[in-house]
Amino acid sequence: MFTIVNRETCISCGACGASAPDIFEYCDEGLSFVTLDDNEGTAEVPEEFEDDVEDACDGCPTDSIKISDSPFDGDPEKFE
Ligand code: F3S
Repeated sequence: MFTIVNRETCISCGACGASAPDIFEYCDEGLSFVTLDDNEGTAEVPEEFEDDVEDACDGCPTDSIKISDSPFDGDPEKFE
């Protein structure tokens, strides 16, 4: 599993960091990013955190958290 945050649509609601605190953190502006790879979507999510990431994805009110079986290469809209 790979994940990335679309920081264009994130509204800093904070839900993702609550669901998956090991994977998502916030920059100074409050926008979320993936800690594994500085939000490039190229580092595989460790298996033990996959459920947390699914929860974060489901809970994001703006659908800003993307999940894929393939790397995003820095582009949250790569598979849309
Ligand atoms: Fe942003 Fe969604 Fe997280 S709005 S702070 S990516 S839950």
